[in-house]
Amino acid sequence: MTSRIVGTGSYLPETVVTNDDLSKIMDTSDEWISSRTGIRERRLVKEETTASMAAEAAKRALENAGVSADEIDLIIVGTITGDYVTPSTACEVQAAIGAEHALAFDLNAACSGFMFALSSAHAYLQANLANAALVIGVETLSKIMDWNDRSTCVLFGDGAGAAVVKRDEVGLSGLDLGSDGAKGMVLACPNRTNNNPLVQTDKALGYTYMDGQEVYKFAVTTVPESIHKAVEHAGLEIGDIKYFALHQANIRIIQSVAKRLKVSVDKFPISLDHCGNISAASVPILLDEMNQKGMLERGDKIVMSGFGGGLTWGTAVLTW
Ligand code: UT7
Repeated sequence: MTSRIVGTGSYLPETVVTNDDLSKIMDTSDEWISSRTGIRERRLVKEETTASMAAEAAKRALENAGVSADEIDLIIVGTITGDYVTPSTACEVQAAIGAEHALAFDLNAACSGFMFALSSAHAYLQANLANAALVIGVETLSKIMDWNDRSTCVLFGDGAGAAVVKRDEVGLSGLDLGSDGAKGMVLACPNRTNNNPLVQTDKALGYTYMDGQEVYKFAVTTVPESIHKAVEHAGLEIGDIKYFALHQANIRIIQSVAKRLKVSVDKFPISLDHCGNISAASVPILLDEMNQKGMLERGDKIVMSGFGGGLTWGTAVLTW
C-alpha cells in the first residue's frame, strides 16, 4: 500500500506583470530576464491573500478528485509567506473550505515545501493517522521581495497549487529528501526582529536575499543526484520516467539537470515562462497544468523535484 495523488488544482492571481512592465519601474529588460531565466511574466496579488489562493486551489483539487471537504482529515500547507504567524494558512484553508474533520498545519521548507508536505502526508497515510489529505504549496512572494533589488524581485511570483492524496495500491514509489542548514544563508529572508524590553531595536523587517550563483551551483549538482536516488528507491530507471516536473526557478537549471541525467529537455514541462518562481507552489501548479492539459495517463511514471531555501531538496517518484 502507498499514497496516490487523486486530484489537482491551482490558482494564479488575476494580475499579470510582464518583463516589460517591470522594465518601466526598474533598471531591467525583457532581454535580460528572459535570456537568463526563461521568465516572461508572473502573477502578483492585489486582492488575493495567501489563504484565499490556497483555499481556491484546494477547492479545485477536491473537485478534480471527486472528494468532499468533509472527507479530508489532514491538511498540510508548504509556505513561507502565510498571512499570519498564527493561525496557520492550513487552519485558514480548513475554515474556508469547511474541512471540519481535518488536522491542519503549515510546514516551512521554502521551494521544497510541497515535496516535504507530500512526503509528510504520505507518512501520516501509511501510519493510518489519516485517510484523505490535502497537500498545498502556496506563496505570496511579492510581499517578501526587496523591490529595489532587481537581481531577486524579477524572478518571483505569487500563486497556489494543491493535490488530494489517498491510500492506494499504486502511487508514490520513491522518495529522496534532504537539507543542508550550513548553507542556509545563501537564500534567506529574516523574520520580525525581537523588540522585547531587553533588546529593543528599531530594525525594519528584512527582505529576501539570494546569492544566485551559489543557489544555481547547489541546484545543478543536488537535483540530478536526488532524482537518481529517488528513481533507484522506486526500483526504476531514468528511462522509465515520462515527465520530470521540477521546481520552476530558472530554465537554465532545468536544461542543465536534463543534460546531466542524459534525458531530452522535452520531458521537462515548463510553467516558469508565465509564473516565474513561486517557491513551494511551483511544483503543484506545474502538476495541475499537466493534468489539465491531459498530459498524464494512468500508469505514467512521473518525477517531481523541489529545491531551494534551507537549503532543502525533495524528490518523489510516482505512478499516476
Ligand atoms: O527557488 C530558489 C532557487 N533560486 C534559483 O534557482 C536562482 C539560481 N540562480 C540564478 O538563476 C541566476 O544566478 C540568476 C538568474 C539569479 C542571476 O543570473 P547570473 O547570470 O548569475 O547573473 P549575475 O547575478 O552574475 O548578474 C550579472 C549582471 C550584473 O551586472 P554586472 O555586475 O555584470 O554589471 C547584475 O547587476 O546582471 C545584472 N543584473 C541585472 N540586469 C538587468 C542582475 N539582475 C538584473 C536584472 N536586469 N533584473
